[in-house]
Order: sequence, then C-alpha cells, then structure tokens
Amino acid sequence: MITLFLLAVQPHWSFTHGSSDTVRKAYIVYMGEALQSKTSATDLHHSLLSSVVRDTSIAQQSKIHSYTKSFNAFAAMLEVLNNYFLKMPQSVKRNNQIESNIIVGVLDTGIYMDSPSFDDKGFGLPPSKWKGSCQVGVNFTGCNKFYHDNPSTFPSIESPADEEGHGSHASSIAAGVSIAGANLYGLAEGTARGGVPSARIAMYKVCWLEGCSDVDLLAGMDDAINDGVDLISISIGGAASSYLDDPIAIGAFHAMMKGILTTRSAGNDGPYASSVENTAPWIMTVGASTMDRQFSTLGKFGNGVEIAVRTSVNIFLPKSRIYPLTSPGNATNGSLTPDKDPWTCDFGTLDQKKVRGKIVLCKEKASAGYLKSVGVIGMIITLQEKVDTGFSFTLPAVYVDANAGDKIITYINSTKVRLTLSPAVIYKTKTTRNAAAPFVASFSSRGPVNVSSTILKPNIVAPGVDILAGYSKLISITASPDDNRVNVYNVISGTSMACPHVTSAAAYVKTFLLDCSPAAIKSCPNDNRFCKPLVVKLVITYELKVKDDQAELAYGADHIDPIRALQPGLIYNLSKYDYARFLCNENYTGIAISLFTNENTSCSSLPNIGGQDALNYPSMSLQLNNPNSSISTMFHRKVTNVGSEKAIYKAIVKAPAILKVTVVAKQLAFSHLHEEKSSMVVIKGPPLNNITSLSASLEWSDTKHKVKSPIFVYLTQKM
Ligand SMILES: *[C@@H]1O[C@H](CO)[C@@H](O)[C@H](O)[C@H]1NC(C)=O
Ligand SMILES: *[C@@H]1O[C@H](CO)[C@@H](O)[C@H](O)[C@H]1NC(C)=O
Ligand SMILES: *[C@@H]1O[C@H](CO)[C@@H](O)[C@H](O)[C@H]1NC(C)=O
Ligand SMILES: *[C@@H]1O[C@H](CO)[C@@H](O)[C@H](O)[C@H]1NC(C)=O
Ligand SMILES: *[C@@H]1O[C@H](CO)[C@@H](O)[C@H](O)[C@H]1NC(C)=O
Ligand SMILES: *[C@@H]1O[C@H](CO)[C@@H](O)[C@H](O)[C@H]1NC(C)=O
Ligand SMILES: *[C@@H]1O[C@H](CO)[C@@H](O)[C@H](O)[C@H]1NC(C)=O
Ligand SMILES: *[C@@H]1O[C@H](CO)[C@@H](O)[C@H](O)[C@H]1NC(C)=O
Ligand SMILES: *[C@@H]1O[C@H](CO)[C@@H](O)[C@H](O)[C@H]1NC(C)=O
Ligand SMILES: *[C@@H]1O[C@H](CO)[C@@H](O)[C@H](O)[C@H]1NC(C)=O
Repeated sequence: MITLFLLAVQPHWSFTHGSSDTVRKAYIVYMGEALQSKTSATDLHHSLLSSVVRDTSIAQQSKIHSYTKSFNAFAAMLEVLNNYFLKMPQSVKRNNQIESNIIVGVLDTGIYMDSPSFDDKGFGLPPSKWKGSCQVGVNFTGCNKFYHDNPSTFPSIESPADEEGHGSHASSIAAGVSIAGANLYGLAEGTARGGVPSARIAMYKVCWLEGCSDVDLLAGMDDAINDGVDLISISIGGAASSYLDDPIAIGAFHAMMKGILTTRSAGNDGPYASSVENTAPWIMTVGASTMDRQFSTLGKFGNGVEIAVRTSVNIFLPKSRIYPLTSPGNATNGSLTPDKDPWTCDFGTLDQKKVRGKIVLCKEKASAGYLKSVGVIGMIITLQEKVDTGFSFTLPAVYVDANAGDKIITYINSTKVRLTLSPAVIYKTKTTRNAAAPFVASFSSRGPVNVSSTILKPNIVAPGVDILAGYSKLISITASPDDNRVNVYNVISGTSMACPHVTSAAAYVKTFLLDCSPAAIKSCPNDNRFCKPLVVKLVITYELKVKDDQAELAYGADHIDPIRALQPGLIYNLSKYDYARFLCNENYTGIAISLFTNENTSCSSLPNIGGQDALNYPSMSLQLNNPNSSISTMFHRKVTNVGSEKAIYKAIVKAPAILKVTVVAKQLAFSHLHEEKSSMVVIKGPPLNNITSLSASLEWSDTKHKVKSPIFVYLTQKM
C-alpha cells in the first residue's frame, strides 16, 4: 500500500522586492524514495492523481510535475488562488583548484550572464561530478535551468536570464569572479568578488517577476541534489506552519542526507519577534548585519543646518546649488478629501504648482513615481522606525529619522512664504566608514521560532546591508519602469544578500575540510580523513561581537568568520536519525518523518536520550511560558573531535549571576580524530518574573580551538 500525503502547499514564497496577487494552490504528493524509472514514475503519478481527485476534468486539466530524481513525488495544480507575495581579505589562503570543483546551487530569479561577475573566461569544463544538463534560452548561453510551472502566466522571457536582478546579485555574492573598480555610478567603488570566486554557479531559476511557486522550488531542489551541487543557497522566504508544508525544508533534508548544506535567508520582517522564517534545524538560517562600509548622504538647509543621514543610495549630483524646500503642510492639494493624509505624498495629495521644482519633505512611504510626475526635484522621507538601509529612487532622496524631520518642518515653518525659498539641497551619497559595525539590521527577522520552541534561529548573521554586487541589465536599478538607469552592479539590502555570504563561507571551508579530489589526496596520500563527508558546521565557531538588543534571537551564534571556521576543533555532528528524533519530539508521525528520511522511520525505534532538548544542536534555547516557574532544564550534547588527534577540552561557562549553568563532564579528553564525547548542560535559576531573557554561553576550549555555543533562556509572553 502506498500512503499518499496530500499537502495544500501555501503559495507563500517571496523574495526581497516586488509583489503580485496571482497564485494557485499546488498539491504536492510525496511517496518517499525515488523510483528507478522516470517513465514508470510519471505514469504512476498520473493514475494516482486521477484516483484522488474526484472531478476528473480537474485531474486532466492539471499540469503534473513529477519529481523523479531525489524524491518520488508529484505536484498537481488544482486551483487558482489570490494570495502570493514575493517578497575575507583578497589575499586569503585559497585552494583554487579545489574551489573550481565546487558547485554552488542557487535557487533564485535567474542570472544575468553578461555581468562581468559571471565572466567564465579560463574556467574550463564543469567538474566531472556535474550531472546537470544545460538549458539554453532566449539571449542565454550559460549552463543553468529555469522552471515555470504556472499555467496562468506566460514567462516573459523563456530562459534562465534574470529579469529581476535578485538572482544575479545573490549569485555574485556567493561566487562572482573578482572585478576591480565595480561601482554603482561611482558609489561603493572597489573590487567586487564572491566568497568563492573560482567556484561554479548552477542557477535554478524558480522565481519569476510574478513570484516563486512551491512546485518549481521543489523541482529546482530535486535537480540540484541530483546534478551534483555541493551547496544550495536559497534567498527565498516564506512562513510555514509545519516543515511538511515547506518544500524547501523537505528538499533540504534530502540534500542534508547527501552532505549538501542548504542555506536560507531568515526573512526581512524584523525587528519584530517571531518573524524568523526558514527554520528547519537542518537548514542554515541567516540574518543580516551591517558592514564597516556605509553610505552617507548629506542634506543641507538654508539656515546652515546640515543633516547627515546614512540611509540613502542617492547617485544624483545636484544640478543647482540650492532648491526651494516645502512640505505637504504647505502644499496640500486643495481638493484632497480629509480621509487622506497629505504627508504620505501619495498620488494626488499635493498641489502641483506648490511642489514643482522643489524638494518635498514627506512622512513614511512617499511615492517617488508620483512626486517625479508632478515635477518634484527631491524628497526627504521621515520615518518613525529605525532605518539602516539605503534605497535607490528615481529622484534624489534621503531618509531622516523623526527627530531630524521635525527640525526640518520647524525650519520650513519659520521661513516666510513670500521668500518661497527655505532652501535645501540633497548631495550625492558618499561612501564612509562605520566603526560601530557589525550590528544586526533592523529589518532582519528575529526569533523565537514559531514552529519549534527548542530551536534558536537565525543561526548566524552575515553582511546584508547596502551590498554592491552583480545585477541584471534587464531591469532598471530601482525596478521602476520609468527609470532608464540599468547597470551590471547594484546596491541592495536584505537577508537575501546575507544568505549567499554564508553559502560561500561554507563553500570556502569545504575546499579545505571536505575535499576528496585527486589533488588533495595526492598531497597527503596516507591521510584519507579529508574524504569523510563532514556536514559543514559554521555555526559553532564565532566570537560574540555583533550588537543587538534582541541578542541571540537576532544574531544566533554570531557573525560569520570563515577563517576561524576552517579549524573548528570540535563539531556538533548530527545524523538524519538525530533530526528524525527531533521531528518525533515535535510530534510528527513516523509516516510523516519517512517522507524526510526516505525510509520507514518509527519514533519508537529511534534512540531518545532526553526530552525536548535532545537534538545535538550547537545552541541551547529554553522557552519558558510562565514567569513564576523556576528554571530547571538539561541539554544533552555530543561533540566530535576534528582538530588534533589528542586533545583535552575544558568547559568555560559564562552566565549571569542568577543563572546556574553546570556542565557534567567539565573536561573532555580525546584520543583520536572523529571520537565523540557526551556532556550534559544543567541549567537552574529562579523564576524570570519581569526579566525578558537571559544570555549565557558554553565554550569548549583546548586553548587552540574555541567552540562556543549560545545558551538562551526566554519568556514567551515578553517576546
Ligand atoms: C535579446 O537580445 C537582443 C539583442 O541584444 C535584444 O534586442 C532583445 O530584446 C533580447 N531579448 C530579450 C527577451 O531580452
Ligand atoms: C509567528 O506567529 C505570530 C503570531 O501568530 C505571527 O504574527 C508571525 O507572523 C509568525 N511568524 C512567522 C514567521 O510565521
Ligand atoms: C489634485 O489631485 C488631482 C488628482 O487626484 C489632480 O488631478 C489635481 O491636478 C490636483 N490639484 C492640484 C492643484 O495639483
Ligand atoms: C508647523 O506649522 C504647522 C501649521 O502651523 C503646525 O501645525 C505644526 O505643528 C508646525 N510644526 C513644527 C514642527 O513646527
Ligand atoms: C509653511 O506654513 C507655515 C504655517 O502655515 C508658515 O508659517 C510658513 O511660512 C510656510 N512656509 C513656506 C516655505 O511656505
Ligand atoms: C507533543 O505532544 C505532547 C503530548 O500531547 C505535548 O505535551 C507536547 O507539547 C507536544 N509537542 C509539541 C512540540 O507540539
Ligand atoms: C517500508 O515498509 C514496508 C512494509 O513493511 C516495505 O514494504 C517497504 O519496502 C519499506 N520501505 C523501505 C524504504 O524500507
Ligand atoms: C505570576 O504571579 C503573579 C503574582 O503572584 C500573578 O499575578 C500572575 O498571575 C502569575 N502569572 C502566571 C502566568 O501564573
Ligand atoms: C557525523 O555523523 C555521520 C552520521 O552518523 C557520520 O557518518 C560521520 O562520520 C560523522 N562525522 C564525524 C566527523 O564523525
Ligand atoms: C522587576 O520588577 C521589580 C518590582 O516591580 C523591580 O523592582 C525590578 O526593577 C524589575 N526588574 C527588571 C529587570 O525590570
């Protein structure tokens, strides 16, 4: 008997910008392991669909996608709905030859081959392990693929070419080649290069201007795993209520079983608690941090006040020394109905004659398109929320905080109407240094995780603010159709940009630790330990140095540090059985877990050493529901020695006075590589009462290596 799982998959995938409201409901039916023959699988899928869908006309109409490589599954489109939102120094030591055998699989909006970042001169043929085929499309000669399963929309361009820019940006961050003098109209000039510039990029275009579908995402994952990619980078978001509703979580589990790390973006819905997405523990979830390079845009006002703001990407040079300045308070459209707030500077809110040729100060979301259409010269947008990200607009623009905004309004108020001047100018953005970096970007999604209380996410943060990287000339730099500026580089922000940084860091580590290439074996013929398939554990190796008042819920284990990750010393190893046990503890049934593990899994036969917190996860998080109950819990952990053959690690605990953290087995003595040792972390403390959260850490140190795990205790209601 075959058990069918009919999952109404939520069409919820998103990438950083753009939105649309067309979508359909896809049903993905998983049946476990892949069958040997593709034809028989497809036939089976058709007949199964007819048997489960009562209305045979629907069954016939629905387009079926059969997954035949990594999973035995099919997807059928049964309904159309309306709810989809898109949403290292250069001299670093490198194993170049091995790096060029690394294939980074990117699922995104496609790739713009003519960007210098993707110049493949000198690369030669793909490594022999590559099993993928090349899909050639309109104006596209690369070796990449596209998926378009939405029958209701026709692809505007039938090729893996990137009409959105997002996929080119993410891919070039991961593995773009080194390009000197990259810049956006003079801004952020420098050498642009991916984390592993010699590595190969396999783009699986699963997102289109109208969005990304689960069906295409799973198809991309299926192919990527089968094609032989080494890592998978997915800067695509989407909230899921269960890992079963998340095709990437299912695909990433299959990838994990083959030693392929999947990295995903945490989401751009911060700074609010519980906004983190893509949270399966076998996925590396990445939040966004700032870099030491920032943008600074200066606004100058007639009374001599200068307001420096760093939140703008303004590449326009002022054509005049000074412009008149006004605000909606002085230029409201006389026929505006009272229910509309002129300060939003939305369509029709302003009196054209009073704003033409001026700089206008607006509050919150201003419509650049509208302001430009009525002849406005520049806009100053005041925001209540903290902003630490620059955006490009089709006219000169700066963001200011509410305080600066009030000062400017006072200035406009104090100026005599008849002078009509109250002059101002917005200068072109300059690149400056930010000594305070890194801190977590305000937009970066925060924990705790809605679906699993024992998992701390994001795992890590990486640069995701104002990133200059490759772009597509098939779209303007602001994505606005009335903008004629196209460029092979662009500056954009998001956890989408942070994710490929971590993918490339993992790829970089892989070139040193996970290599089985003939070259490496030649250099150390008697040492085949390099051939052991280690799942890269970047999470555990970082110093706490990122600043954020939401602490571990914002930055997880810390900021990426690929160089330190090369010599972790110890790793928290996890097998598919550990993850299966985790799913059992999360109350998934054995039958459901079998979909992930590709074999019959029964929770009763899986070892269960402890309660909810038994997953050998490199962080420890305790969620408390009642502020009045005292803290008492235990975490079981196992560490595997990957450093020196003989080593003695000591536990160093850092904890606030009120938290008692005891490590049972304070010292671990290893006598050989790959030896595994267990320890237990016991945490006790008084009721949290009005305390929101407590942060502590456990560090294993043999003096050469330091392996630090965050310990985080928090109160649900206060989040
Ligand atoms: C393909 O390239 C040609 C020549 O550069 C251009 O005119 C055409 O618009 C391109 N087609 C698409 C779909 O981008
Ligand atoms: C988590 O749950 C809260 C409350 O129901 C909700 O507002 C939030 O959107 C959820 N987060 C995600 C990522 O689904
Ligand atoms: C007021 O807004 C309307 C559009 O809603 C526009 O047609 C009209 O020209 C505006 N009035 C002035 C004085 O700009
Ligand atoms: C500016 O003047 C308007 C109208 O008189 C007034 O409502 C507003 O409070 C003033 N704002 C500031 C910041 O002075
Ligand atoms: C803006 O309006 C305020 C309040 O009515 C007035 O005092 C000020 O002179 C006006 N400024 C300009 C530049 O029109
Ligand atoms: C699993 O089920 C048990 C028993 O019903 C319950 O106590 C526990 O909270 C559930 N765990 C999760 C993660 O839902
Ligand atoms: C799962 O169990 C069923 C029934 O015992 C058996 O027929 C099937 O071959 C098993 N599948 C795998 C993948 O072990
Ligand atoms: C915690 O104790 C306080 C004071 O005794 C009480 O008001 C409150 O309801 C208790 N909260 C819970 C969740 O039990
Ligand atoms: C990690 O666990 C897997 C599965 O149990 C095992 O194959 C692998 O050798 C382990 N890695 C190390 C470094 O021991
Ligand atoms: C907790 O509440 C008590 C009593 O209301 C107060 O004295 C104390 O400062 C509060 N502690 C914190 C961390 O807010």
